[in-house]
Amino acid sequence: MADSQVKDEWDLQTEKIQDRMDKIGRKILIMSGKGGVGKTTITVNLANALVDMGCTVGILDTDITGPNVAKMLGCEDGVLGSPDGTTLYPVEPREGLKVVSLAFAIQDPDAPIIWRGSLKNTAIRQFLADVEWGTLDYLLIDSPPGTGDEQLTVCQSIHSLTGTIIVTTPQPVAVLDARRSVGFSRKLGCAIIGVIENMSGLRCPECGTEIPIFGIGGGEKMCQEMHVPFLGRVPMEIDLREAEDSGVDFMKNGISHPSREALMEICRQINFGTACSTSRDTSFLGTPQCSPSACASCTSNCASRNRNAK
Ligand SMILES: Nc1ncnc2c1ncn2[C@@H]1O[C@H](COP(=O)(O)OP(=O)(O)O)[C@@H](O)[C@H]1O
Ligand SMILES: [Mg+2]
Repeated sequence: MADSQVKDEWDLQTEKIQDRMDKIGRKILIMSGKGGVGKTTITVNLANALVDMGCTVGILDTDITGPNVAKMLGCEDGVLGSPDGTTLYPVEPREGLKVVSLAFAIQDPDAPIIWRGSLKNTAIRQFLADVEWGTLDYLLIDSPPGTGDEQLTVCQSIHSLTGTIIVTTPQPVAVLDARRSVGFSRKLGCAIIGVIENMSGLRCPECGTEIPIFGIGGGEKMCQEMHVPFLGRVPMEIDLREAEDSGVDFMKNGISHPSREALMEICRQINFGTACSTSRDTSFLGTPQCSPSACASCTSNCASRNRNAK
């Protein structure tokens, strides 16, 4: 294929991505330097909480070789529809939530996905360009650990990315890697919506003592040092872990949990506007009256509404 033809196809796909993303209010990349700190857990719980608040939400799982979103949402048997063989339709585990993951295309859950970076990039761009996401308030993009192919592809393909949420545990090794995620966001000119300190202490179910398994406060301290917003601490909880393993909506759980309260509070901050440290687009900063789902009927002249009206 001639170089110019390849370039044309690339440009066409970029335009298609742009068109799809223009219909989505806020596009947020959830990232961390280290694996196992809770990115996917945070993604699915924020998504469910946002849907409970009346938002429409999409989740794009860009953890190509370790896709866990579907399992945590209990929809791993879902199939991506494609009646015309080109456009892909997301799995909808509940009203208001659309999910796309490579897990839906793999029959055998034990089969390893052995893909080089270029193949991962192709898949992610295809998910952005060919999926009929429709109009959404949020697209939450879960990612594997690190600052590699997947994160680069997302940041470079979505020009209107709202920003990144960085997840870390309080322990120094995780924080060290989270600092790199901060640096990555800044280098790429992405707004940092904030940092979540997950697995921040464990309250003993027997005696109520707080056990600092991974320490406490490391993520918050990093935020002060690096001048990035701190979104909150989510403690470790057995019920949260069990809910994720069994695909149950933890946010719907009637019992009061410190981790659930913390996730709700973080969700409120994100939905109602939060400060960004460096930004390509801070226009989503809003008030409680200014949630993106209200944009369509809102008469204010905020940039978010203007963008959605385009
Ligand atoms: N606050 C928490 N309390 C208890 N378990 C948690 C918490 N956050 C995450 N987990 C569990 O830790 C494991 C790793 O989380 P996961 O979201 O898969 O991390 P990542 O996506 O960063 O690799 C999962 O089994 C998840 O259920
Ligand atoms: Mg994950």
